[in-house]
Amino acid sequence: MLLAAKAVILFIIFSPILEELPIAESKRMAEYYDPETYPKEWNYLQPGTIIDQYVVERELAHGGFSSVYLARQREDHVQVAIKEYLPRKLAHRTWNNKVVANDEESLRLFKCGRKLFLDEARVLAELKHPNIVEVVSFFNANSTVYMVMTYDYGITLDKLIKNKTLKIDAELLATIFNALLDGVELIHQYNLVHLDIKPANILIRPDHNPLLLDFGAVQSYPRNEERQRSKVMTKGFSPIEQCESKGALGPWTDIYAVGASIRSCLDRKAPIPADQRVKKDNLIPATKVHKKKFPEHFLQAIDWAMSIEPGNRPQSVQEFKQALQV
Ligand SMILES: Nc1ncnc2c1ncn2[C@@H]1O[C@H](COP(=O)(O)OP(=O)(O)OP(=O)(O)O)[C@@H](O)[C@H]1O
Ligand SMILES: [Mg+2]
Repeated sequence: MLLAAKAVILFIIFSPILEELPIAESKRMAEYYDPETYPKEWNYLQPGTIIDQYVVERELAHGGFSSVYLARQREDHVQVAIKEYLPRKLAHRTWNNKVVANDEESLRLFKCGRKLFLDEARVLAELKHPNIVEVVSFFNANSTVYMVMTYDYGITLDKLIKNKTLKIDAELLATIFNALLDGVELIHQYNLVHLDIKPANILIRPDHNPLLLDFGAVQSYPRNEERQRSKVMTKGFSPIEQCESKGALGPWTDIYAVGASIRSCLDRKAPIPADQRVKKDNLIPATKVHKKKFPEHFLQAIDWAMSIEPGNRPQSVQEFKQALQV
């Protein structure tokens, strides 16, 4: 989900352009909102619900900050994936689908996150690549915002890894990560870093062509404003500069995450988190653990990408791809 929105909650960055707060309304709603008795069916938009020019078919996934639905365009029946901004710690849905802040304090944060969600949808709509999820439009409805994406059929890499019958060999990894890195390279050309690359955000389509999802954490680089640094990170896949608030973010940050994602395919589990590795590095190099099972240069490239120190990693996708030779 959009990390900028998450960052709002963590850092309480108030935007000066926030709308006037209808505080009376949020106070009134807070009296009614009781998580204990809240009807479960209000958590998600129900199948058949019409939003903008779409009909909701079913829920695809949900997290703490958003829900993703499979929907169909009413006119031409084309299926789309729609992501709804709904940070559950701050807001809830009411009987008429309107999203309302849980209380007066949450309202400010909710609105700030909603603006950032929309800003990021706008950035993503510009980014066109066969291995990057396509944002086709975005709209306001139900007092929240929605991002419309091309719906792609597939299974996320984290689920694929858990399927023990799937043979993970160098050829499969080459197909997946070569294409994925092409997409990551484009992101970097826009001076953006994804910051949440992990198997759960990589959708594998039936021909094994990957699609990078979830640009919730995307940030521009280089960036000086330390206060805007978000602390959201995924254990095992985020490097040390994302765990600590020092060290510049850059292509090397995503490169660590891609290296860790490849490593997790070999190990079939998430690597040791970077903040633990800093104290005592118990991560046995891939060159040792997977010796002879994969080409030596390929394993060396993974270990290089997973160097703890940002400066010791490949500094560009091109450099990393050359080392992987996939
Ligand atoms: N364009 C799409 N096509 C098909 N499925 C999608 C698409 N976008 C998202 N999904 C499905 O929805 C899931 C969640 O999407 P996404 O990763 O963007 O948000 P999220 O992880 O729920 O956000 P958060 O965890 O931060 O709340 C994906 O794992 C995938 O299964
Ligand atoms: Mg995700």
